[in-house]
Amino acid sequence: MSKVTRRDFLKIVNRVLAATGLAAVFGPVLAYFYPPKLEETPAEPVLVASESELTVGSSRTVSFGRYPALVINTAAGLKAYSAVCTHFACICKWDAEKEQIICPCHDGYFDPSDGSVISGPPPKGLTPFQTEIRDGDIYVSAGDES
Ligand code: FES
Repeated sequence: MSKVTRRDFLKIVNRVLAATGLAAVFGPVLAYFYPPKLEETPAEPVLVASESELTVGSSRTVSFGRYPALVINTAAGLKAYSAVCTHFACICKWDAEKEQIICPCHDGYFDPSDGSVISGPPPKGLTPFQTEIRDGDIYVSAGDES
């Protein structure tokens, strides 16, 4: 059986440290050029909240694949849209007082009944999603178009 000399041991330690250093430097570089793939929209419905949590007039913004979804419990029922503004991709919010979906970046306003543009610079309405209630919980999904 061969004996590991002190010099051999230090060579091994040196190589391990070099490999770790290279991984620390090149790992982020590789991650930048080859980012992980995110689904545009999830294949499965995403839980939003329980029915009791999302009262009429309130909303939730949930992570929905690559981009968030905005789910609103309007007086006319549940509505869900991509929260990404069609102008410059700011994240839209529900304004309960005005009962409109607003984009705070350039004062874009959207109709909560169908996601169409009311005013402002957005060139088109928000992408609609579907909602469903299962066992008292609200889910959002891309629907059949995905
Ligand atoms: S990004 Fe929404 S109005 Fe400009």
